[in-house]
Amino acid sequence: MSADPAVVVGRVTESGGDGAASVLAAAETRMLALTAQFGPTLGRHGAETIRAGGKRLRPLLVCLASGVPVRESDALVRAACAVELIHSATLVHDDVLDGADLRRGRPTVVSSGGRLAATATGDLLFSRAFADLAAGGSVAAVRSLADAARALAAGELLQRADAWDLTVTVERYLERCRLKTAKLFRAACELGGLAVDARADRIAALGLFGESIGLAFQLFDDVLDVTGPPERTGKPRGADLLDGTVTLPLILARERAGGLGELDLRGVSTAEAAARVCDEIIATGVLDAVRTDALGLVRTAKAQLPVLPRAQRDALELVADQVVERYR
Ligand code: IPE
Ligand code: IPE
Ligand code: MG
Ligand code: MG
Repeated sequence: MSADPAVVVGRVTESGGDGAASVLAAAETRMLALTAQFGPTLGRHGAETIRAGGKRLRPLLVCLASGVPVRESDALVRAACAVELIHSATLVHDDVLDGADLRRGRPTVVSSGGRLAATATGDLLFSRAFADLAAGGSVAAVRSLADAARALAAGELLQRADAWDLTVTVERYLERCRLKTAKLFRAACELGGLAVDARADRIAALGLFGESIGLAFQLFDDVLDVTGPPERTGKPRGADLLDGTVTLPLILARERAGGLGELDLRGVSTAEAAARVCDEIIATGVLDAVRTDALGLVRTAKAQLPVLPRAQRDALELVADQVVERYR
């Protein structure tokens, strides 16, 4: 995915997703208004987290899931804003759990303000998201997002429980990704459909589409952790290895390569050591296998779309392809 959301929105707009840019801009204003008013410390960390940007992929999905052309409404802006606030909240908390110091190309809240400030900032973003969505009055939307938030927490806990464990299976890894990433993509797509009272079969298809591309997205994110470079990703290379997170590239590489079979993950404690292991993983050629798996998930996602009108289907297919394209 291009690091510049305007590029993604521009491409989608060309394919008929006009209206998305204005909903995204309104969601941006709303996110800042909801976070900035909370005092000098939390307000600043919250607003800086939002101002740091990001690809805004999930709010884009909210928009396109509502239909193409996108028609701006209070419900849609509220949904796009709430989904991105939850995403941002989980990133702030994720960086505490992962001990990460770089996010969206800037110092993380935990590295600049400490653990307590980061925990409280994430909590603030969570609570603002739900308060604002609930005020919009859609119980179904709140339920969908709450399911995603619960899954996210479960996924992050599963990741901590499995940290440093090189015997983690592919199935368990996929379950972790489904919980920590794919469920929020599902909610983004469901909320878009709910904002326009879409037919139940369409909301179901949108949810399945979102979950599959969300899973593909995490697989690719885990590839990017191995390949970097930080200038492109806004995150350090090899961060997963350094915090003990065993991802698909490492699981598959250990099955293939003798040397990595002997790996002592706790001994990988510097950026240089992590970079060496990343290079070993790349040398096994497994990244192509992970990419192939992720491309299969993108195909599964697209297979959900025939129930939708042509223009909407085209726009969502384009986004699905962008998820893959950011790695070329
Ligand atoms: C990062 O998500 C967390 C994952 C699920 C891998 P993004 O890569 O969408 O992060 P931003 O919003 O663009 O910073
Ligand atoms: C995704 O996992 C984070 C969340 C879903 C909160 P990662 O730990 O891989 O995300 P990054 O790489 O830090 O963005
Ligand atoms: Mg992380
Ligand atoms: Mg990652």
